[in-house]
Amino acid sequence: MAEKMISNNKQVILKNYVNGPPKESDMSLKTSTINLKIPDGCNDAVLVKNLYLSCDPYMLGRMKKIEGHYTDAFAIGSPMVGYGVSRVLESSHPNYKKGDLIWGFTGWEEYTLVTDPSTSFKIHDKDVPLSYYTGLLGMAGMTAYAGFFEVCSPKKGETVFISAASGAVGQLVGQFAKLMGCYVVGSAGSKDKVDLLKNKFGFDDAFNYKEERNYNAALKRYFPYGIDIYFENVGGKMLEAVLNNMRVHGRIAVCGMISQYNLEHPEGVHNLSALISKRIRMEGFLVLDYYHLYPKFLEMVMPHIKKGKITYVEDMADGLESAPAALVGLFSGRNVGKQVVVVAKE
Ligand SMILES: NC(=O)c1ccc[n+]([C@@H]2O[C@H](COP(=O)([O-])OP(=O)(O)OC[C@H]3O[C@@H](n4cnc5c(N)ncnc54)[C@H](OP(=O)(O)O)[C@@H]3O)[C@@H](O)[C@H]2O)c1
Repeated sequence: MAEKMISNNKQVILKNYVNGPPKESDMSLKTSTINLKIPDGCNDAVLVKNLYLSCDPYMLGRMKKIEGHYTDAFAIGSPMVGYGVSRVLESSHPNYKKGDLIWGFTGWEEYTLVTDPSTSFKIHDKDVPLSYYTGLLGMAGMTAYAGFFEVCSPKKGETVFISAASGAVGQLVGQFAKLMGCYVVGSAGSKDKVDLLKNKFGFDDAFNYKEERNYNAALKRYFPYGIDIYFENVGGKMLEAVLNNMRVHGRIAVCGMISQYNLEHPEGVHNLSALISKRIRMEGFLVLDYYHLYPKFLEMVMPHIKKGKITYVEDMADGLESAPAALVGLFSGRNVGKQVVVVAKE
Protein backbone atom coordinates (compact mmCIF):
# COMPACT_ATOMS: atom_id res chain seq x y z
CA MET A 1 0.00 0.00 0.00
CA ALA A 2 1.29 3.50 -0.87
CA GLU A 3 2.40 5.35 2.27
CA LYS A 4 0.79 8.73 3.00
CA MET A 5 2.54 12.07 2.47
CA ILE A 6 -0.16 14.66 2.93
CA SER A 7 0.49 18.20 1.73
CA ASN A 8 -1.62 21.34 1.44
CA ASN A 9 -2.64 22.06 -2.14
CA LYS A 10 -3.66 25.61 -3.10
CA GLN A 11 -6.16 25.57 -6.00
CA VAL A 12 -8.04 27.94 -8.32
CA ILE A 13 -11.63 26.76 -8.47
CA LEU A 14 -14.37 27.67 -10.95
CA LYS A 15 -17.20 28.99 -8.74
CA ASN A 16 -19.93 29.34 -11.36
CA TYR A 17 -20.35 29.20 -15.12
CA VAL A 18 -19.52 32.52 -16.73
CA ASN A 19 -22.14 34.72 -18.32
CA GLY A 20 -20.81 37.52 -20.50
CA PRO A 21 -17.27 38.75 -19.84
CA PRO A 22 -15.35 36.69 -17.24
CA LYS A 23 -14.77 38.20 -13.79
CA GLU A 24 -12.22 37.38 -11.12
CA SER A 25 -15.16 36.56 -8.85
CA ASP A 26 -16.13 33.65 -11.16
CA MET A 27 -13.10 31.89 -9.63
CA SER A 28 -11.96 31.43 -6.06
CA LEU A 29 -8.92 30.18 -4.18
CA LYS A 30 -9.15 27.17 -1.96
CA THR A 31 -6.62 25.15 -0.01
CA SER A 32 -7.27 21.43 0.09
CA THR A 33 -4.93 18.54 0.87
CA ILE A 34 -3.35 15.97 -1.41
CA ASN A 35 -1.50 12.73 -0.79
CA LEU A 36 1.80 13.13 -2.65
CA LYS A 37 1.75 9.45 -3.61
CA ILE A 38 0.09 7.85 -6.60
CA PRO A 39 -2.84 5.81 -5.24
CA ASP A 40 -2.56 2.01 -5.43
CA GLY A 41 -3.92 0.68 -8.70
CA CYS A 42 -3.63 4.05 -10.49
CA ASN A 43 -1.58 2.93 -13.46
CA ASP A 44 -0.20 5.16 -16.22
CA ALA A 45 -0.44 8.31 -14.09
CA VAL A 46 2.01 10.99 -12.98
CA LEU A 47 1.90 13.08 -9.85
CA VAL A 48 3.33 16.51 -10.62
CA LYS A 49 4.35 19.75 -8.96
CA ASN A 50 3.15 22.61 -11.14
CA LEU A 51 5.72 25.31 -11.91
CA TYR A 52 4.21 27.57 -14.60
CA LEU A 53 0.62 27.82 -15.80
CA SER A 54 -0.54 29.28 -19.08
CA CYS A 55 -3.48 31.70 -19.34
CA ASP A 56 -5.23 31.15 -22.67
CA PRO A 57 -8.31 32.79 -24.23
CA TYR A 58 -9.84 29.38 -25.15
CA MET A 59 -10.21 28.64 -21.41
CA LEU A 60 -13.16 31.02 -21.36
CA GLY A 61 -15.04 28.51 -23.54
CA ARG A 62 -14.58 25.93 -20.76
CA MET A 63 -15.81 28.40 -18.13
CA LYS A 64 -19.12 28.76 -19.97
CA LYS A 65 -21.77 26.17 -20.75
CA ILE A 66 -21.67 26.28 -24.55
CA GLU A 67 -23.54 23.69 -26.56
CA GLY A 68 -21.28 22.09 -29.18
CA HIS A 69 -18.01 23.71 -27.95
CA TYR A 70 -14.94 21.70 -28.97
CA THR A 71 -13.88 21.21 -25.33
CA ASP A 72 -15.82 20.13 -22.23
CA ALA A 73 -16.87 22.70 -19.67
CA PHE A 74 -14.89 22.78 -16.40
CA ALA A 75 -16.61 21.21 -13.39
CA ILE A 76 -17.94 23.73 -10.88
CA GLY A 77 -16.08 23.51 -7.56
CA SER A 78 -13.08 21.75 -9.12
CA PRO A 79 -9.68 23.21 -10.01
CA MET A 80 -9.54 24.69 -13.48
CA VAL A 81 -7.40 22.90 -16.05
CA GLY A 82 -4.97 24.38 -18.54
CA TYR A 83 -1.56 24.04 -20.11
CA GLY A 84 1.38 24.14 -17.72
CA VAL A 85 4.97 23.15 -17.08
CA SER A 86 5.35 20.64 -14.27
CA ARG A 87 7.93 18.47 -12.53
CA VAL A 88 7.15 14.78 -12.09
CA LEU A 89 7.25 13.78 -8.41
CA GLU A 90 6.13 10.19 -8.95
CA SER A 91 5.15 8.14 -11.97
CA SER A 92 3.30 4.90 -12.69
CA HIS A 93 3.55 5.60 -16.44
CA PRO A 94 6.32 3.83 -18.38
CA ASN A 95 7.27 7.00 -20.34
CA TYR A 96 7.89 9.24 -17.33
CA LYS A 97 10.07 9.07 -14.25
CA LYS A 98 10.60 11.13 -11.11
CA GLY A 99 12.41 14.39 -11.91
CA ASP A 100 11.19 14.63 -15.52
CA LEU A 101 9.89 18.01 -16.66
CA ILE A 102 6.77 17.95 -18.81
CA TRP A 103 4.34 20.37 -20.43
CA GLY A 104 0.70 19.68 -21.14
CA PHE A 105 -2.66 19.77 -19.40
CA THR A 106 -2.55 20.09 -15.65
CA GLY A 107 -4.66 21.51 -12.82
CA TRP A 108 -4.66 25.14 -11.66
CA GLU A 109 -3.18 24.07 -8.32
CA GLU A 110 0.17 23.37 -6.70
CA TYR A 111 0.11 19.58 -7.18
CA THR A 112 -1.87 17.49 -9.67
CA LEU A 113 -2.42 13.79 -10.22
CA VAL A 114 -2.43 13.62 -14.03
CA THR A 115 -4.28 10.40 -14.79
CA ASP A 116 -3.78 10.61 -18.57
CA PRO A 117 -0.34 12.07 -19.32
CA SER A 118 -0.40 10.63 -22.87
CA THR A 119 -0.96 14.12 -24.34
CA SER A 120 1.91 15.68 -22.34
CA PHE A 121 5.31 16.39 -23.86
CA LYS A 122 8.58 15.58 -22.10
CA ILE A 123 10.93 18.58 -21.95
CA HIS A 124 14.36 17.60 -23.22
CA ASP A 125 16.01 20.96 -23.91
CA LYS A 126 16.35 22.89 -20.65
CA ASP A 127 18.81 25.37 -22.09
CA VAL A 128 16.00 27.95 -22.48
CA PRO A 129 13.70 29.50 -19.84
CA LEU A 130 11.36 26.71 -18.65
CA SER A 131 8.40 29.09 -18.80
CA TYR A 132 8.81 29.15 -22.61
CA TYR A 133 7.10 25.75 -22.66
CA THR A 134 3.85 27.49 -21.66
CA GLY A 135 4.08 29.71 -24.76
CA LEU A 136 6.83 29.95 -27.35
CA LEU A 137 7.73 26.25 -27.06
CA GLY A 138 4.22 25.11 -26.13
CA MET A 139 0.68 25.51 -27.43
CA ALA A 140 1.02 29.16 -28.55
CA GLY A 141 4.21 28.44 -30.49
CA MET A 142 2.65 25.44 -32.21
CA THR A 143 -0.41 27.57 -33.05
CA ALA A 144 1.73 30.26 -34.67
CA TYR A 145 3.79 27.67 -36.54
CA ALA A 146 0.87 25.58 -37.81
CA GLY A 147 -1.33 28.57 -38.58
CA PHE A 148 1.32 30.46 -40.47
CA PHE A 149 3.30 27.77 -42.28
CA GLU A 150 0.64 25.08 -42.77
CA VAL A 151 -2.52 27.16 -43.23
CA CYS A 152 -1.18 30.37 -44.85
CA SER A 153 1.38 28.78 -47.25
CA PRO A 154 3.57 31.93 -47.13
CA LYS A 155 5.97 32.99 -49.86
CA LYS A 156 8.92 35.36 -49.69
CA GLY A 157 7.97 38.97 -50.38
CA GLU A 158 4.27 38.58 -49.49
CA THR A 159 2.45 41.10 -47.30
CA VAL A 160 1.22 39.83 -43.92
CA PHE A 161 -1.18 41.42 -41.43
CA ILE A 162 -1.58 40.09 -37.87
CA SER A 163 -4.18 41.25 -35.32
CA ALA A 164 -3.62 40.94 -31.52
CA ALA A 165 -0.06 40.94 -32.78
CA SER A 166 1.84 41.43 -29.53
CA GLY A 167 0.22 38.49 -27.74
CA ALA A 168 1.37 34.93 -27.13
CA VAL A 169 0.66 33.79 -30.70
CA GLY A 170 0.85 37.05 -32.69
CA GLN A 171 4.39 38.06 -31.68
CA LEU A 172 5.64 34.73 -33.06
CA VAL A 173 3.65 34.81 -36.29
CA GLY A 174 5.25 38.18 -37.03
CA GLN A 175 8.75 36.90 -36.36
CA PHE A 176 8.17 33.77 -38.48
CA ALA A 177 6.88 35.97 -41.30
CA LYS A 178 9.97 38.20 -41.11
CA LEU A 179 12.21 35.10 -41.24
CA MET A 180 10.34 34.14 -44.45
CA GLY A 181 11.14 37.52 -45.98
CA CYS A 182 7.59 38.90 -45.82
CA TYR A 183 6.46 42.49 -45.21
CA VAL A 184 4.72 42.39 -41.80
CA VAL A 185 2.33 44.78 -40.07
CA GLY A 186 0.57 44.15 -36.76
CA SER A 187 -2.23 45.77 -34.81
CA ALA A 188 -2.32 45.96 -31.02
CA GLY A 189 -4.19 47.86 -28.33
CA SER A 190 -1.65 50.31 -26.85
CA LYS A 191 1.31 52.50 -27.77
CA ASP A 192 3.65 50.32 -25.71
CA LYS A 193 2.53 47.21 -27.57
CA VAL A 194 2.99 48.98 -30.93
CA ASP A 195 6.52 49.95 -29.86
CA LEU A 196 7.24 46.32 -28.95
CA LEU A 197 6.08 45.14 -32.37
CA LYS A 198 8.31 47.58 -34.19
CA ASN A 199 11.36 47.68 -31.95
CA LYS A 200 11.55 44.25 -30.36
CA PHE A 201 9.85 41.81 -32.75
CA GLY A 202 11.05 43.46 -35.97
CA PHE A 203 7.65 44.10 -37.58
CA ASP A 204 7.93 46.50 -40.52
CA ASP A 205 5.10 48.58 -39.09
CA ALA A 206 2.33 48.47 -36.51
CA PHE A 207 -0.66 50.50 -35.37
CA ASN A 208 -2.89 50.92 -32.32
CA TYR A 209 -6.34 49.80 -33.48
CA LYS A 210 -7.96 51.66 -30.56
CA GLU A 211 -6.80 54.95 -32.09
CA GLU A 212 -8.14 54.19 -35.57
CA ARG A 213 -11.65 55.39 -36.38
CA ASN A 214 -11.69 53.58 -39.71
CA TYR A 215 -9.88 50.22 -39.93
CA ASN A 216 -10.37 50.18 -43.68
CA ALA A 217 -8.44 53.43 -44.10
CA ALA A 218 -5.75 52.28 -41.67
CA LEU A 219 -5.15 49.07 -43.63
CA LYS A 220 -5.04 51.01 -46.91
CA ARG A 221 -2.34 53.21 -45.37
CA TYR A 222 -0.14 50.23 -44.41
CA PHE A 223 -0.96 48.03 -47.41
CA PRO A 224 -1.45 50.30 -50.44
CA TYR A 225 -1.17 47.22 -52.71
CA GLY A 226 -3.21 44.91 -50.47
CA ILE A 227 -2.71 42.03 -48.02
CA ASP A 228 -1.62 38.54 -49.13
CA ILE A 229 -1.94 36.85 -45.73
CA TYR A 230 -4.10 37.73 -42.72
CA PHE A 231 -3.50 35.93 -39.42
CA GLU A 232 -6.88 36.43 -37.75
CA ASN A 233 -6.97 36.68 -33.96
CA VAL A 234 -9.81 39.13 -33.31
CA GLY A 235 -12.72 38.86 -35.81
CA GLY A 236 -15.57 41.36 -36.11
CA LYS A 237 -15.02 44.73 -37.78
CA MET A 238 -11.30 44.08 -38.29
CA LEU A 239 -12.07 41.01 -40.39
CA GLU A 240 -14.51 43.01 -42.47
CA ALA A 241 -11.89 45.71 -43.12
CA VAL A 242 -9.27 43.10 -43.95
CA LEU A 243 -11.53 41.44 -46.53
CA ASN A 244 -11.81 44.81 -48.28
CA ASN A 245 -8.02 45.03 -48.42
CA MET A 246 -7.07 41.46 -49.36
CA ARG A 247 -5.33 40.72 -52.64
CA VAL A 248 -6.44 38.16 -55.18
CA HIS A 249 -5.51 34.61 -54.05
CA GLY A 250 -4.90 35.82 -50.49
CA ARG A 251 -5.06 33.46 -47.49
CA ILE A 252 -6.69 34.02 -44.10
CA ALA A 253 -5.83 31.71 -41.20
CA VAL A 254 -8.68 32.00 -38.71
CA CYS A 255 -6.95 31.36 -35.42
CA GLY A 256 -9.25 33.24 -33.03
CA MET A 257 -11.91 35.92 -32.77
CA ILE A 258 -11.34 37.33 -29.30
CA SER A 259 -13.39 40.49 -29.94
CA GLN A 260 -16.48 38.28 -30.28
CA TYR A 261 -16.11 35.86 -27.36
CA ASN A 262 -17.95 38.04 -24.84
CA LEU A 263 -20.65 39.52 -27.04
CA GLU A 264 -24.21 38.36 -26.50
CA HIS A 265 -24.83 38.82 -30.23
CA PRO A 266 -21.62 38.32 -32.27
CA GLU A 267 -21.20 40.90 -35.04
CA GLY A 268 -21.90 39.92 -38.61
CA VAL A 269 -19.33 40.12 -41.42
CA HIS A 270 -21.05 41.69 -44.39
CA ASN A 271 -18.57 41.41 -47.23
CA LEU A 272 -17.86 37.67 -47.42
CA SER A 273 -18.47 37.81 -51.16
CA ALA A 274 -14.91 39.17 -51.35
CA LEU A 275 -13.87 35.53 -50.87
CA ILE A 276 -15.31 34.80 -54.30
CA SER A 277 -14.26 37.83 -56.27
CA LYS A 278 -10.70 37.74 -54.88
CA ARG A 279 -10.46 33.91 -54.75
CA ILE A 280 -9.40 34.09 -51.07
CA ARG A 281 -8.84 30.92 -49.05
CA MET A 282 -10.10 31.45 -45.50
CA GLU A 283 -9.49 28.50 -43.20
CA GLY A 284 -10.17 27.96 -39.50
CA PHE A 285 -7.80 25.70 -37.64
CA LEU A 286 -7.16 24.22 -34.20
CA VAL A 287 -3.66 23.60 -32.93
CA LEU A 288 -4.82 20.20 -31.63
CA ASP A 289 -4.71 18.86 -35.19
CA TYR A 290 -1.04 19.76 -35.64
CA TYR A 291 0.80 18.42 -32.58
CA HIS A 292 2.34 15.65 -34.70
CA LEU A 293 4.51 18.46 -36.15
CA TYR A 294 5.94 19.37 -32.72
CA PRO A 295 9.38 17.75 -33.31
CA LYS A 296 9.66 19.53 -36.68
CA PHE A 297 8.65 22.80 -35.01
CA LEU A 298 11.33 22.41 -32.28
CA GLU A 299 13.95 21.63 -34.92
CA MET A 300 13.07 24.86 -36.72
CA VAL A 301 12.61 27.19 -33.76
CA MET A 302 15.30 26.15 -31.24
CA PRO A 303 18.33 27.28 -33.29
CA HIS A 304 16.62 30.64 -33.93
CA ILE A 305 15.99 31.11 -30.19
CA LYS A 306 19.57 30.20 -29.31
CA LYS A 307 20.98 32.57 -31.92
CA GLY A 308 18.69 35.35 -30.62
CA LYS A 309 16.81 35.49 -33.93
CA ILE A 310 13.50 34.77 -32.23
CA THR A 311 12.63 36.51 -29.02
CA TYR A 312 9.64 36.16 -26.70
CA VAL A 313 7.98 38.55 -24.28
CA GLU A 314 6.22 37.03 -21.28
CA ASP A 315 4.00 38.67 -18.70
CA MET A 316 4.65 36.90 -15.40
CA ALA A 317 1.95 36.90 -12.72
CA ASP A 318 3.30 35.79 -9.38
CA GLY A 319 1.51 33.03 -7.48
CA LEU A 320 -1.77 31.16 -7.91
CA GLU A 321 -3.52 34.06 -6.12
CA SER A 322 -2.86 36.22 -9.16
CA ALA A 323 -4.17 33.65 -11.68
CA PRO A 324 -7.85 34.78 -11.85
CA ALA A 325 -6.87 38.42 -12.56
CA ALA A 326 -4.26 37.30 -15.09
CA LEU A 327 -6.78 35.17 -17.00
CA VAL A 328 -9.50 37.84 -16.97
CA GLY A 329 -6.92 40.43 -18.12
CA LEU A 330 -6.54 38.70 -21.50
CA PHE A 331 -9.97 40.00 -22.49
CA SER A 332 -9.11 43.64 -21.85
CA GLY A 333 -5.56 43.49 -23.18
CA ARG A 334 -3.96 43.88 -19.75
CA ASN A 335 -1.30 41.33 -20.65
CA VAL A 336 1.80 42.42 -22.50
CA GLY A 337 3.03 39.29 -24.29
CA LYS A 338 2.40 35.72 -23.18
CA GLN A 339 0.48 35.61 -19.89
CA VAL A 340 2.11 33.13 -17.52
CA VAL A 341 1.35 32.36 -13.86
CA VAL A 342 4.40 31.42 -11.80
CA VAL A 343 3.33 28.80 -9.25
CA ALA A 344 6.81 27.69 -8.16
CA LYS A 345 10.27 28.25 -9.61
CA GLU A 346 11.36 24.59 -9.23
N1 LIG B 1 -6.98 28.07 -33.14
C1 LIG B 1 -6.22 27.69 -32.12
O1 LIG B 1 -5.85 26.52 -31.97
C2 LIG B 1 -5.78 28.75 -31.13
C3 LIG B 1 -4.75 28.48 -30.20
C4 LIG B 1 -4.33 29.53 -29.36
C5 LIG B 1 -4.94 30.77 -29.43
N2 LIG B 1 -5.97 30.97 -30.31
C6 LIG B 1 -6.60 32.29 -30.45
O2 LIG B 1 -5.58 33.20 -30.84
C7 LIG B 1 -5.87 34.51 -30.37
C8 LIG B 1 -4.67 35.05 -29.61
O3 LIG B 1 -4.44 34.23 -28.47
P1 LIG B 1 -3.19 34.49 -27.53
O4 LIG B 1 -3.03 33.31 -26.64
O5 LIG B 1 -2.04 34.92 -28.36
O6 LIG B 1 -3.72 35.69 -26.64
P2 LIG B 1 -2.97 37.08 -26.37
O7 LIG B 1 -2.90 37.80 -27.67
O8 LIG B 1 -1.73 36.84 -25.63
O9 LIG B 1 -4.00 37.82 -25.41
C9 LIG B 1 -5.22 38.24 -25.87
C10 LIG B 1 -5.10 39.64 -26.51
O10 LIG B 1 -6.25 39.86 -27.32
C11 LIG B 1 -6.48 41.23 -27.44
N3 LIG B 1 -7.90 41.53 -27.26
C12 LIG B 1 -8.66 41.29 -26.17
N4 LIG B 1 -9.92 41.71 -26.39
C13 LIG B 1 -9.94 42.23 -27.63
C14 LIG B 1 -10.94 42.83 -28.44
N5 LIG B 1 -12.19 42.99 -27.99
N6 LIG B 1 -10.61 43.26 -29.67
C15 LIG B 1 -9.35 43.11 -30.15
N7 LIG B 1 -8.35 42.55 -29.44
C16 LIG B 1 -8.65 42.12 -28.20
C17 LIG B 1 -5.64 41.93 -26.35
O11 LIG B 1 -4.54 42.58 -26.99
P3 LIG B 1 -4.63 44.12 -27.42
O12 LIG B 1 -4.15 44.93 -26.25
O13 LIG B 1 -3.74 44.18 -28.60
O14 LIG B 1 -6.08 44.40 -27.73
C18 LIG B 1 -5.13 40.78 -25.50
O15 LIG B 1 -3.87 41.03 -24.96
C19 LIG B 1 -7.14 34.39 -29.55
O16 LIG B 1 -8.24 34.74 -30.35
C20 LIG B 1 -7.19 32.91 -29.20
O17 LIG B 1 -8.52 32.48 -28.96
C21 LIG B 1 -6.40 29.99 -31.15
